[in-house]
Amino acid sequence: MDLGLAGKVAIVGGASQGIGFAIARALAREGARVVMWARRNPALENAAAQLRQEFGADVFPVLGDVRKAKDHERVVNAALSKHGRVDILVNNDGAPPLTLMMEADDEAWEKAVRQNLMSVIRMVRLCVPSMKEAGGGRIVNITALSVKAPIVGFGLSVATWAGLIGYSKTLSRELGPDGITVNTLCPGRIDTDLSQRSFKRQAEIEGRPVDAVVADSMAKIPLRRIGRPEEIGAVVAFLVSSQASYVTGTTIQVDGGALDSLL
Ligand SMILES: NC(=O)c1ccc[n+]([C@@H]2O[C@H](COP(=O)([O-])OP(=O)(O)OC[C@H]3O[C@@H](n4cnc5c(N)ncnc54)[C@H](OP(=O)(O)O)[C@@H]3O)[C@@H](O)[C@H]2O)c1
Repeated sequence: MDLGLAGKVAIVGGASQGIGFAIARALAREGARVVMWARRNPALENAAAQLRQEFGADVFPVLGDVRKAKDHERVVNAALSKHGRVDILVNNDGAPPLTLMMEADDEAWEKAVRQNLMSVIRMVRLCVPSMKEAGGGRIVNITALSVKAPIVGFGLSVATWAGLIGYSKTLSRELGPDGITVNTLCPGRIDTDLSQRSFKRQAEIEGRPVDAVVADSMAKIPLRRIGRPEEIGAVVAFLVSSQASYVTGTTIQVDGGALDSLL
């Protein structure tokens, strides 16, 4: 199946490792020109170098922090000055720290809102004019399965991403007439540095050994394993492709079947 991604210009956040890197890799393999961003080098430069080496990809690393408005402008301006357009926006980064809701102070909440909600709102505002000019575009937000099935300790993300889902659904209705699709993806447990840290922290919060938390988590997954980052990359590549032209306003879980409800 031709995904029609060759030559498309994509911005992918949190692209130096984990899920974001797997998404950048999936798009680069299809011939998209990918602006990759994250906060730190050499990780980001190394990730870009890997994609150049693997696929001869046209990738452009830009350092930035999703919690800083000026960095959003810098990243989008870099894409516009290098390629003159943005066709695809994938909003992804790290996550707010795990904590019990009653222990999160105002500063923790404000940071979580900046990271999970305001960052997307700003990136969308900056990219949509170019998409409209081109006659269409694709926006995908990476959240987590915990938005549909909240987990104790993940409240900062659950609450802010629930807001993001409301924003994205509304946005999909507003931008549909311009040929711009907006979808949200909820990964289940995926094997990355972050998930290792999350298991550890969850074990602390629950006062149980990490092995027990991991074993419980796997037992609840019908496919009986943690997912691989490339399994998220593949779904995102489809959602941003020309083949997904009638898919918008959805909130899709990619979780090995872990969600045990109809919605
Ligand atoms: N892994 C899972 O099991 C899982 C499950 C559900 C949802 N998710 C969600 O998927 C997203 C990606 O997770 P992951 O597992 O791939 O995490 P990861 O392996 O820790 O990678 C996070 C990426 O985001 C970048 N990043 C972190 N904070 C940033 C910031 N403030 N500004 C810009 N870039 C930032 C990191 O690079 P720098 O640190 O250099 O900036 C890195 O490239 C997260 O939102 C996570 O909550 C993950």
